[in-house]
Amino acid sequence: MAKRIVTAIDVGTTKVATIVASVKAKDNIEILGVGVAPSTGLHKGIVVNMDQAKQSIATSVREAQRISGMHIDSVYVGVTGRHITSVNNRGVVAIPRDDRLVRPQDLKRVLSAARGVPVPEGKQVLHAIPRSYALDGQEMVKQPVGMHGSRLDVETHIITASITSIQNLVKCIRSIGIDVEDLVLEPLASAEAVLTPEERETGVIMADIGGGTTDIAVFKSGSIYHTGVIPVAGYQVTSDLSIGLGLPFEIAEKMKKKYSSVAPELEIEETAQVGIENGHSASQRRLCQIISSRMEELLQLIITEMPTSDYRSLAPCGLVLTGGTSNLPGLTELAEALLRMPVRIGRPLSTGIYGISDILSDPAYATTLGLVLWQVEGKKGSEISLKRHGIRGAIANLFRRLFGA
Ligand SMILES: Nc1ncnc2c1ncn2[C@@H]1O[C@H](COP(=O)(O)OP(=O)(O)OP(=O)(O)O)[C@@H](O)[C@H]1O
Ligand SMILES: [Mg+2]
Repeated sequence: MAKRIVTAIDVGTTKVATIVASVKAKDNIEILGVGVAPSTGLHKGIVVNMDQAKQSIATSVREAQRISGMHIDSVYVGVTGRHITSVNNRGVVAIPRDDRLVRPQDLKRVLSAARGVPVPEGKQVLHAIPRSYALDGQEMVKQPVGMHGSRLDVETHIITASITSIQNLVKCIRSIGIDVEDLVLEPLASAEAVLTPEERETGVIMADIGGGTTDIAVFKSGSIYHTGVIPVAGYQVTSDLSIGLGLPFEIAEKMKKKYSSVAPELEIEETAQVGIENGHSASQRRLCQIISSRMEELLQLIITEMPTSDYRSLAPCGLVLTGGTSNLPGLTELAEALLRMPVRIGRPLSTGIYGISDILSDPAYATTLGLVLWQVEGKKGSEISLKRHGIRGAIANLFRRLFGA
């Protein structure tokens, strides 16, 4: 069976991860390489220093090329940041012909009607994802083309993003000689990697708690219902520790990863001290208290971000936590006790994915693998035109079309 090479870059706030996969079928994906580099030049998911971001991206790409033995020339890229907003909008059109048969052009018309939400200046539509259709009032139609009716409705999930944030990210990647094939909102990519079809159908909240942002996706009736980005994640936890315990940031980060737990029932002796290089030490009880209260706040923020206060009925399958910060021991128990709903940790690896893939069992790589799965599933890309302008762009696009290069 023919195989194709799929590549993506997850430009995170703490790490940049480039992934190269060889795809034979949806359940036959060989990971050829993942290149990871510490991220610099990003703040809360957006580029704030182009030169530094470029360096980090280039290092991660070089590493992925070295491990996979493949040359990377174009990639899918994840997008996140507090500039992201989302809304559900309906569109409606009449099917005017005598046969009342819904044709592909009717689908196009209704989708374009639904896309007509007011977009604030400086923003543009990143994704417009049809959730479900209705024909003559009959709801829950998944694929209306070929069916008959005189009125076609669609409900769409519209995601908007800041034009400049996206331009800066795309520019960083192109400046190292790699083309951006498409963009995917990061929570949608992470959800691809960690949610089951049953959870999406019944209703589930996914939160990817990374370094700079907590990316949220809510699924209901098999499709995306809500997306959001909270500009608080692991970085702020470390920052609080550093201030609260009077430790340098890097030491606080190491202590967090090595000694922390947020399990609600955990008993820690008052005198217990934990230490790390250069004689830095701290009370373990205090360390865990600071992290627990920050995580409780963050879990509340996730719930505040929900489109309804009745989040338990919205998501009977509960909350799936992923992203690097979901490695915190005791987080599942803390979240279950606080939110009184089922909670599990979403790990990106699943059956049918093999190769140099050990690293992908860490939830920090949910977005990275998700960007590959988004392409494998053949999901529609972003609404943003990434065509390159000018003579160089035209030549590059021509070569791409002719030779797939
Ligand atoms: N064992 C651990 N315990 C607590 N926190 C951890 C652990 N391992 C990783 N983290 C935290 O995970 C965060 C990084 O997660 P991740 O790699 O998902 O972020 P990112 O993708 O770079 O950032 P973002 O998606 O927010 O832009 C860091 O803040 C790090 O401290
Ligand atoms: Mg991330």
